[in-house]
Amino acid sequence: MSDTAAQQTGYQAWLEYHRITPGELVEQYAVYSGIVCTEKDEVIQSAVLELSRGISKMLGKEIGEGRAVIALGTFGGGNELVDRAFGEETRSAVVHEGFAITTDQASGNIVVGASSASGVLYGVFHLLRLFSTHQSVKALDVIENPVNMLRMINQWDNIDGSIERGYAGKSIFFENNRITEDLTRVRDYARLLASSGLNAISINNVNVHQWETKFLTEEYLPDVARVAGVFRSYGIKLFLSVNYASPLEIGGLSTADPLDPAVREWWRVKAAEVYAAIPDFGGFLVKADSENRPGPFTYDRDHADGSNMLAEALKPYGGIVIWRCFVYNCKQDWRDRATDRARAAYDHFKPLDGRFMDNVILQVKNGPMDFQVREPVSPLIGAMETTNQMIEFQITQEYTGQQRHLCYLVPQWKEVLDFETYAKGEGSSIKRIVDGSLHGNRLSGFAAVSNIGNDVNWTGHLLAQANLYGYGRLAWNPELSAEEIAEEWIRMTLGGDEKLVSVVLSMLMHSWSIYEAYTSPLGVGWMVNPDHHYGPNVDGYEYSKWGTYHFADCHGIGVDRTKATGTGYAAQYKGNNYDTYESVENCPDELLLFFHHVPYTHVLHSGQTVIQHIYNTHFEGVERAEQLTAKWASLEGSMGELVHMHVADRLAEQAAHAKEWRDMINTYFFRKSGIEDAMGRKIY
Ligand code: GCU
Repeated sequence: MSDTAAQQTGYQAWLEYHRITPGELVEQYAVYSGIVCTEKDEVIQSAVLELSRGISKMLGKEIGEGRAVIALGTFGGGNELVDRAFGEETRSAVVHEGFAITTDQASGNIVVGASSASGVLYGVFHLLRLFSTHQSVKALDVIENPVNMLRMINQWDNIDGSIERGYAGKSIFFENNRITEDLTRVRDYARLLASSGLNAISINNVNVHQWETKFLTEEYLPDVARVAGVFRSYGIKLFLSVNYASPLEIGGLSTADPLDPAVREWWRVKAAEVYAAIPDFGGFLVKADSENRPGPFTYDRDHADGSNMLAEALKPYGGIVIWRCFVYNCKQDWRDRATDRARAAYDHFKPLDGRFMDNVILQVKNGPMDFQVREPVSPLIGAMETTNQMIEFQITQEYTGQQRHLCYLVPQWKEVLDFETYAKGEGSSIKRIVDGSLHGNRLSGFAAVSNIGNDVNWTGHLLAQANLYGYGRLAWNPELSAEEIAEEWIRMTLGGDEKLVSVVLSMLMHSWSIYEAYTSPLGVGWMVNPDHHYGPNVDGYEYSKWGTYHFADCHGIGVDRTKATGTGYAAQYKGNNYDTYESVENCPDELLLFFHHVPYTHVLHSGQTVIQHIYNTHFEGVERAEQLTAKWASLEGSMGELVHMHVADRLAEQAAHAKEWRDMINTYFFRKSGIEDAMGRKIY
């Protein structure tokens, strides 16, 4: 694809490197005559390539004819400029994947130094970000270390090329039951991931079906190794999702019992084969005993038995087991009011604290249900003091508009990360649990379900790229604000026109609250069409087996999860959180219906009744969605025409679809409650 064609599509995403127009900045940036690098390591060579590609695109010429250089390398790696630039204090402040950047005042040289090759790569991407967001590089003095050790992306891609919950085309990894021959696009994906700060990927769906189970066999391992090679050159480790029943399905054994010696031996041999093909293989991601996937329960064993068996097999090679906690009864009877899906992860896993090997990490979804537009933070995170944990977010917008609606999710993730759990008293925020510092965990970090496919702009909705970028940036440093991240993404992707930046920034920053306004109210969730989960259907899951109910009748709505009169879920929280959620008076409005069943006439902290809140937010939500289209229209001419038209189309669809949501929800609750809208607006 030519540069202009790519710019018209968004393919380069935040690595677009818009041409910098002449002026002070170009003079500042154009002083560089070359890149000085002495190391041959492949990750460092990627860094050199990225730097020269980025700078030449921004300046419109190869770098050269300047008086200064950009030097890069590892400390003690043989580059004199690097060794001279950083003293002992800086070197010891830079951890494994961190970096330091400095501008030498005498020569004007910029020097990027790190203690590892990936640190050099991250340093280069940081420098490129400074260039492409037009910041001064005259006096750099930067030290950055990643806050989280594991910064992972989970693909939910299947070997037939489909993607579970994918909204941006087909898989870039697989087609026609094979691993893709041409890995160019995979390489470009690796560049995007590394540039946002990520260092790990699992390439196949957590629901591992028949063919993907064979990834562990010699039929597929050489191809998996090819993919691992691409990611390796960008400092990213490859993981595979594995089928817990593999010994049965591909091993010819009659059991997958984790305590059976033959099964343990089978996994040991398997691990050896995998590491022979991919020496730096990351490990296994496992969805077991969850939504009909096999697991240790079949053999009367528990999750510690299951995960430890795999961990033991991977241990000699430094591999890890990432074991998902999304375990609940998915065959519930809707008439059974005692079973509460929200309780499930905590009830299953908390009693196992202390039993997991040190190379097992439990991966816990951010909320207790399933990536709804609003739910409380999972009480399991932080509740296991001697178990490694990582958080799982969903970048792909399964329940937040499927990349047809705009929903910038970084503000939601920030709220989760800043949430105070009281796990060890005050100061026990989720981000401190997830970065391992609160409980002193050996392994910890972030995972998230990817939102990319082979659509030319990667994410379907161009603006949904901001979620992928934002996820990586937040995994690197959860202290960054949602605004800062959005602004970086806009400048790097769409350019630095000030009006454009401020309009798109405000669109992104309001988008989550807009989406929440016209969809399910006050934290109750669901109300979507079953299976595909797009569009409104208030009773879509009400009489189903999935444990996802709102219990609306003619008097009221919501799920009583209190200890006093409900399912007891609220008691899984510690300290003030329990008191806040248990009490209908103290519970925050946005989660009221998650924790309490209340009459439609219940008055919220906002002063409105529940029913009036439902009407108001749904009418306002539609108006605000319509304003998005007007805001975007005002940007015509400030970016490529195709890109502008593409987003305009999506926003028009959103505005129309928001009306469908508004009318379904309002009409449903008007009919249930018989209460008129105080403002007399049209309800069908
Ligand atoms: C959701 C999603 C499924 C997915 C599951 C999971 O329920 O709808 O498609 O498999 O999450 O996280 O495992």
